[in-house]
Amino acid sequence: MNKLLVSLLLTLGVTGLAQAAGDATAGQTKAAVCGACHGPDGNSPAPTFPKLAGQGERYLLKQMKDIKSGARPVVPMTGLLDNLSDQDLADISAYFASQKGSVGQADPKLVARGEALFRGGNLAAGMPACSGCHSPNGEGNDLAGFPQLGGQHAAYVATQLTNFREGVRTNDGDTMTMRSIAAKLSNKDIEAVSSYIQGLH
Ligand code: HEC
Ligand code: HEC
Repeated sequence: MNKLLVSLLLTLGVTGLAQAAGDATAGQTKAAVCGACHGPDGNSPAPTFPKLAGQGERYLLKQMKDIKSGARPVVPMTGLLDNLSDQDLADISAYFASQKGSVGQADPKLVARGEALFRGGNLAAGMPACSGCHSPNGEGNDLAGFPQLGGQHAAYVATQLTNFREGVRTNDGDTMTMRSIAAKLSNKDIEAVSSYIQGLH
């Protein structure tokens, strides 16, 4: 949130919203424990740990709240967020959102199929193009709740698409859109579009 908006909200006494604004500098210290898996700047070295660098601030905050409450089960993070306040989570979100995400490479053999799905969807199956929500370069649209995908590890993306499809990632019903989309993806589709996303920027 920009400073002008924050001060306007403070003037109006809308402190609830203003408090939710994250402080990236404070967040860096609080995020130290996350670095072991997600990388100190949020560019995780391991393909099963998602990159958080450059991810949308609102999306990060929403996922952390869901992971904390158990609405999105993430076993390796069990208990890790229990002692963090809403302000801590907002600060950590602001920190990772402010970092620059790194980009990987797509498998040249999968690019054509992956790109066709990402940019064109699957008309016959009634599946919309991923780019319609996640944007053509994969940067997403944080205000609308569409996460950044570009540069994300293919292995992580494939797991998420499978989890949406199999009803493992539900976030208490908030992922209906992605679940109906993933229901139309075959395993081969998932492999191709995930690889394409890894190299997208
Ligand atoms: C022991 C390893 C580990 C540690 C430490 C860890 N995480 Fe995670 N985190 C994971 C894994 C694995 C996933 C993905 C789980 C899945 O496949 O759904 C994840 C997912 C996430 C997501 C969702 C990302 C997305 O794109 O939807 C966020 C946000 C997150 N972690 C934040 C944090 C924060 C903040 C910390 C530190 C307080 C932290 N994590 C510490 C392993 C870890
Ligand atoms: C109508 C909009 C829409 C379309 C089209 C769409 N998505 Fe999504 N996607 C979303 C939303 C909203 C979320 C966040 C769900 C949540 O809050 O957990 C999401 C989340 C995701 C995630 C999880 C990201 C992470 O960091 O864990 C992946 C992966 C993903 N989408 C891939 C795709 C792919 C691949 C396609 C095309 C086949 C696609 N999406 C099409 C709206 C869309």
